[in-house]
Amino acid sequence: MTVPAVHLSRGGVSVVLAPSADGLAVLHWGVALGAVDPDALARLHVAGVPHSALDHPRLRGIVGENVAGYTGTPGLSGLRPGAGAAAWAPRLRDWSCDVDDSGEDARVALEAADDEAGWQVRVELELTRDGLVRMRTFVTNAGPGDLVLDQVRLALPVAPRATELLDLTGRWCRERTPQRRDWLHGTHLRESRHGRTGHDATLVMVAGTPGFGFGSGEVWGTHVAWSGDHATYAERTPEGECVLGGGELLGPGEVVLAEGETYRSPWLVGAHSTTGLDDMSARLHAWLRRQVPLGERPVLVNTWEAAYFDHDLGRLSALADVAAQVGVERFVLDDGWFHGRRSDRAGLGDWTVDTGLWPEGLHPLIEHVHGTGMDFGLWVEPEMVNEDSDVVRAHPDWVLRGHGELPPTWRHQQVLDLQHPDAYAHVRDALLALLGEYDIAFLKWDHNRDLIDVAHAGRPAVHGQTAAFYRLLDELRAAHPGLEIESCASGGGRIDLEVLTRTDRVWASDTIDAVERQRIQRWTSLLVPPERMGAHVGGPVAHTTGRSHRLGFRAATALLGHFGIEWDLSAVSEEERTELAAWVALHKRVRPLVATGRVVHGDPADPALAVTGVVAEDRAEGWYVVATVDTTTTQGPGAVVLPGLDPERSYRVTHETPEGYRHPADLGTTWLDDADGPVVPGSVLAALGVRLPVLAPESAVVVRCVDTGAARP
Ligand code: GLA
Repeated sequence: MTVPAVHLSRGGVSVVLAPSADGLAVLHWGVALGAVDPDALARLHVAGVPHSALDHPRLRGIVGENVAGYTGTPGLSGLRPGAGAAAWAPRLRDWSCDVDDSGEDARVALEAADDEAGWQVRVELELTRDGLVRMRTFVTNAGPGDLVLDQVRLALPVAPRATELLDLTGRWCRERTPQRRDWLHGTHLRESRHGRTGHDATLVMVAGTPGFGFGSGEVWGTHVAWSGDHATYAERTPEGECVLGGGELLGPGEVVLAEGETYRSPWLVGAHSTTGLDDMSARLHAWLRRQVPLGERPVLVNTWEAAYFDHDLGRLSALADVAAQVGVERFVLDDGWFHGRRSDRAGLGDWTVDTGLWPEGLHPLIEHVHGTGMDFGLWVEPEMVNEDSDVVRAHPDWVLRGHGELPPTWRHQQVLDLQHPDAYAHVRDALLALLGEYDIAFLKWDHNRDLIDVAHAGRPAVHGQTAAFYRLLDELRAAHPGLEIESCASGGGRIDLEVLTRTDRVWASDTIDAVERQRIQRWTSLLVPPERMGAHVGGPVAHTTGRSHRLGFRAATALLGHFGIEWDLSAVSEEERTELAAWVALHKRVRPLVATGRVVHGDPADPALAVTGVVAEDRAEGWYVVATVDTTTTQGPGAVVLPGLDPERSYRVTHETPEGYRHPADLGTTWLDDADGPVVPGSVLAALGVRLPVLAPESAVVVRCVDTGAARP
């Protein structure tokens, strides 16, 4: 059957599928093409046939079939051990194409089979109203005997004019470090073998036109929505293909399909923009906000850096009192509350309240917290155990391992085998019991180690463990629909779109040093909307780096995220409490925009400057934090561009930094104290910007721009 060419267009993005000699290919992913006859387009793009090449024009097929001559990363590979015709990859034939172009999101389902090798393949492709492409593959074993999957990869083509690559790397306390390079021939491959998404996960692999930035350039970005091992790559072949791709990274024999069984790949998500990274991210954010609608986020206080393992009712109640006074709405009891957990060496897995510490359970604390008007959240780490725990003493066989000897410990802990039905039931029932006994609004769900040397039933275990983690989340949320969950993994080690559809926020990093956070949050926001990014105000000296920062810089850095406090407030001065309360109040003013607006970033020439903003969808208002992460290159920050507003509308510009911060050297920037603020068109703010005071290193100012309703003069 010959499949027709298909042109889908949504949200300023087009995708064209065209028949090729090998079945079907994505001919175009990118800028909207307008009314176009896809067959004519497909005819225009039949490739040439060089002398030394296949004797027919070749386009990379939708699954990148190596057996059809694609020499880049194959889309499908696997083995049927012992089979006569031992095909190691399918040669797909008879593509069918089911197009639903009528809804707000367009959908295509493509199916093909290799009857000889016994593979059935289905590729689903969606183009959402946000202009986001989502693709996934289903592989069904239609032959006799087992089909051992090797790898399943999806990829999307990118225009050859994208000659630069950006991806993110990182480590504990330094997640999301950008790295840029020229995009030359070959494969730039990022693999995660952490058994969780990984601190170094790129989140998005971006290709773009030279010099692209947050506000300029044509960019294409892809993301693999999976919380286990995965690969993300950019590939440019001498034949001329440029693709961004990825998929789950399977270990040897990790997925073996019995006859009739199906493997479903993670989604590969692609976002394109002609105006830079912020617009690319806005599409990802908009999609997630529709999938998991959230209102304004409550300001929270977390006990970790405030009290660590010092769980004392009096101390924590005092913290709750001050937190409520400064305007906090949620109290989160972090690690240390459960049986035997007096340090990080024991207790994980025993999810009952420690009766030595809490003779009446958590009731007195929760009652106290509720009495102050806050709701209550609790830290858990359900997939982990300490060897020093009752659960491991009773069930040593529940610990995930690849050999008889246990894997090396990491933060003194091991992993519970969630594919073991009894182990799974143990942790599920323990969590359900807690949620049943206590009024818990929020779980901070942690995962503090990589999975190393892990197997289940003699096979690599990450795939099954990740699927079981999703199942556990789904079961708990089904039983407690109002429950909110944070995805934390030693900070930002489990951030991806699949976990984000099952949770309400992520912990971006264990470091709350504001200099580090400026970078970490900027790059985390490539994927994560601001209201889902936990951003806390720590104490004056950052625990993870030893750097000291003024409260104004710490608070301004958290202002445009899911604002929280992680600081022993019972020990702070009256002056600091007042200043903190002003920042909490300021956050509450801006948080309706944080929850719904577009994130924008400046592209300042001075690397000491960081400009972050949220702009209302209707562009009636924008809030900006301009921070210095170093001494400015010039004497003052100069004119700072405020992006994202409507060039045609007039905005009143006001300085909103709470009292308590003024740089002593600044004697001249007069508009800062002008309560009415000057009124200028958005075009001025985008092209010329505003002058800001002389800024000391590691300080910040907050600026608000509001549409005056006046027509532009
Ligand atoms: C991890 C988290 C921290 C804290 C500790 C508790 O490191 O990322 O925020 O919850 O665990 O042990």
